[in-house]
Amino acid sequence: MKYHIVTYGCQMNLHESEKIAGILKEAGYDGPAPLEEADIIVFNTCCIRENAENHAFGNIGALKKLKREKKGLIIAVGGCMVQEEGKAKYLKEKFPFIDILFGTHDLPRFKSLIEEKRARKKTVVSVSEERGETEDHIRPVRTSYPNAWVNIMYGCNNFCSYCIVPYVRGRERSRSATAILREVETLVAEGYREITLLGQNVNSYRDGDVDFAKLLDAVACIEGKFRVRFMTSHPKDFSAELVAVMKKHKKICKHLHLPVQAGNDRILALMNRRYTREKYLGELALLRREIPDCEVTTDLIVAFPTETEAEFEDTLSLVEAADFSSAFTFIYSPRTGTKAAAMEGRIPDDVAKDRITRLIALVNRKTREKSARYVGKTVEILCEDFDEKKGMYLGRDEYGRMGYFKSEKDMIGQFVDLKIKEANGISLYGEIV
Ligand code: 5AD
Ligand code: SF4
Repeated sequence: MKYHIVTYGCQMNLHESEKIAGILKEAGYDGPAPLEEADIIVFNTCCIRENAENHAFGNIGALKKLKREKKGLIIAVGGCMVQEEGKAKYLKEKFPFIDILFGTHDLPRFKSLIEEKRARKKTVVSVSEERGETEDHIRPVRTSYPNAWVNIMYGCNNFCSYCIVPYVRGRERSRSATAILREVETLVAEGYREITLLGQNVNSYRDGDVDFAKLLDAVACIEGKFRVRFMTSHPKDFSAELVAVMKKHKKICKHLHLPVQAGNDRILALMNRRYTREKYLGELALLRREIPDCEVTTDLIVAFPTETEAEFEDTLSLVEAADFSSAFTFIYSPRTGTKAAAMEGRIPDDVAKDRITRLIALVNRKTREKSARYVGKTVEILCEDFDEKKGMYLGRDEYGRMGYFKSEKDMIGQFVDLKIKEANGISLYGEIV
């Protein structure tokens, strides 16, 4: 018996799909297979923006034929979209061929849901209220060697006015520091070379008197050759202690993903972000004073309700002032149940599209400029994969930039020093030194 998992959304979801694979193995499935050959198909969904949902709808709808033709095929849909208020009912009605619907808090129960489904015909629906559990005792089937994701906390208490995450992921809960350190030690001993600490809001981590800076310090003190990354951080919880820990350890990538969302104080207040443009730029100044080679990436939203042209231009000028290496850019998408969805002053689609086009052009120019500075320099890359089309190995530097190179030997999982010959967008091309 084989499984096929389709994942939408963030790294948290990608890691959760590794846990889903772990559960499927325990439930008797042997391994992954292409969609048409699978005995169970699992959709791990996202609802952060409307287009994430529409993608999933389209692809779930396309399974109807397969379900009709293949006896015994199980179709399961889970994750953030299913946890949304009223969505499980909607999905059940729209796609009656779905066998199992499970919410974000129901993952630890997934195996028993499969067993329940095998025993009866009806759709099995499990969308629980939050349980507050932080240890799920699931052994993930990891798919991203030499990188490994480690959850440190779940949920979010920030309630940014546009964001649905606090509603579908529940309140913040931190895992025990002991469990996290044990997991990282095991991964490093198994040969993983890059550990990414994951949480919706890692800076809010707390286990007794262990805050995020202390946890990061402890992780970086673990013996062995590996890198540490973390995401995502919130500017309101940025601290000098965190900068000090980043500076102290070579193992910690000198890269901070610090979503700013917008460059105008009125919009930031409407978004309930609880910092100003000045405070944000002040944090970056402190960071760069202490760690001059640190690179910063961000998330940006355009066309938030009532955003004027001048306020949008504040986002453009912030991209220049903050000197981001790259950014994820989004058009505001109203999410039912959030505060912003009830706000007046929706921005017309054509204006939103024009703004995002201009923003992307600026971000791309900044990214190209930064990458071009690497030509002639030597960069340490952690080799992750082989690109068949290019006939080259690829990996990332500590800032997350992709580096390509040729090698006769299999280099996956190794740190490689590359002399950069060419830069193209976010990608670097080099030779092993
Ligand atoms: N519309 C557009 N972008 C959003 N994000 C979160 N919610 C929305 C929304 N409703 C973006 C933010 C966040 C990233 C993960 O997704 O920029 O940092
Ligand atoms: Fe959403 Fe804000 Fe929480 Fe990030 S910090 S998950 S944007 S509510």
